[in-house]
Amino acid sequence: MKHLVLSLLLLIFCNNFLLSQNLTARIKVDIERKIGGIDENLYGNFTEHLGRCIYGGLYEPGSAKADNQGFRTDVLNATKEMGVSLVRWPGGNFASGYHWMDGIGNKANRPKRKDLAWGDTESNQVGTDEFLAWSKAAKVAPYICVNLGTGSLDEARNWVEYCNAPTGLYYSDLRAANGHPEPYNVQYWGLGNEIDGPWQMGHKNAEDYSKFALEAAKLMKWSDDKIKLIASGSSNYGSGWTDWNRTVLNSLGGYVDYISLHNYVGNHDKDHYKFMASTIFAENVIKITEGLIKEATLKNKIDHPIYIAFDEYNVWYRAWNEQKLEEHYNMQDALVIASYLNCFIRNAQIVKMANLAQLVNVIAPMMVTHDTLWYQTTFYPLQLFAENCKGNSIASFVECASYKNNDKDVPYLDVSTVYNDTTKELMINVVNRHLDKGITTSITNQFGNLSNKAMVYEINSPDIMDENTVSEQKVKTKEKSINVSGNSLQYTFPAHSFTMIKIKMN
Ligand code: AHR
Repeated sequence: MKHLVLSLLLLIFCNNFLLSQNLTARIKVDIERKIGGIDENLYGNFTEHLGRCIYGGLYEPGSAKADNQGFRTDVLNATKEMGVSLVRWPGGNFASGYHWMDGIGNKANRPKRKDLAWGDTESNQVGTDEFLAWSKAAKVAPYICVNLGTGSLDEARNWVEYCNAPTGLYYSDLRAANGHPEPYNVQYWGLGNEIDGPWQMGHKNAEDYSKFALEAAKLMKWSDDKIKLIASGSSNYGSGWTDWNRTVLNSLGGYVDYISLHNYVGNHDKDHYKFMASTIFAENVIKITEGLIKEATLKNKIDHPIYIAFDEYNVWYRAWNEQKLEEHYNMQDALVIASYLNCFIRNAQIVKMANLAQLVNVIAPMMVTHDTLWYQTTFYPLQLFAENCKGNSIASFVECASYKNNDKDVPYLDVSTVYNDTTKELMINVVNRHLDKGITTSITNQFGNLSNKAMVYEINSPDIMDENTVSEQKVKTKEKSINVSGNSLQYTFPAHSFTMIKIKMN
């Protein structure tokens, strides 16, 4: 009996010991294996006339934080702080019912309209000139999405003329009369939003959209041949989504520079590991669309590149219309955002624009009260990537344990690597998806020499459900420096964390 009890205790001890042990992994990095240049537009964002994003977000004349144009200076500063490069506007679903002429000229005379996308009353106090003034102040490139839902071809081309033509034409003279004689030269123009979705005002099938968008594209490019056009790609992932992208690319390929993709994910089943694997879908959609781009380019002898603009992505599953999409993000969501960014970096040869949806209050990395701004958990991975991941995406070899999700193996480590030729900095970006195990990883550099110090930036929190609030930042970036000797290092990525290791090459 005594022996039996002792053996049992030994078994329990061994089991617990094994459970508490870290897993191990290997990463090999080779700065010569370039995947593609990282476009600065990968750190884009999106602002829509929806809930408190525009009104009560970036524009709130009554706030103590507002400047003399009504823009909140704290939102402007946080946009710069997060490293946002480009901002899409005015929607989203809103764009498909928006008539831009409602939003120019004397503010007192602008019409109030019912927005059928979200059910709000649109005051039109923020329109083209305001958004472009805000973009300039925020130091972001503006990206305008035209209305190919209820809008007309003339509206689309006249908007380009209003923004980009030198004075001497009807719409450019109107701009000058509104106080802006110099052209804005808006470079990025979206050909409608999510027209593949039945929820969209003016939803169309692929053929009808392609015919209409082709005519809009022609007139817009003839109005200004320097603009870049983004075709409305898939957002509605039923069985026909690849057909949509194929038809759009074959019809519009000669005129467009990008095809857009949208994807939102959520932890609907309260299943951590399933949620951690959710960005694999976006990666598959990117790879399939890259193939469709190749097919259309070869078939139609298109002589300019077409890229992917992943111009809406985020975690969104808790707050719907009645809560004005004001999601509160936790640590787990921050990991998913880091995985999205890893995925865009790994596919940097084809993904040349990505826009987190959205900027402030509405499914956003920053929230405001009437006079205070605070950062959600998702602010931090976005900021880290935008600040550091410039240069080239490089291939890495990763060997680590995996788990099963829908019968597929999902590695516990989600990794991207970046090398900046100018600063000679190497960035190793790692999400450890494991809920309770650290992963001790040996990282080996294949070409060139690592310097003897590295910076480590970590986003983590004791509880994966930890959220930030207006008064407490439980989740934020912590940094430290570590010593490196030789051309490899060992690092333990803590359970449910995002880590960026930054090392200079000698
Ligand atoms: O970002 C919220 C909404 O999500 C956008 O308006 C729409 O394009 C998408 O369905």
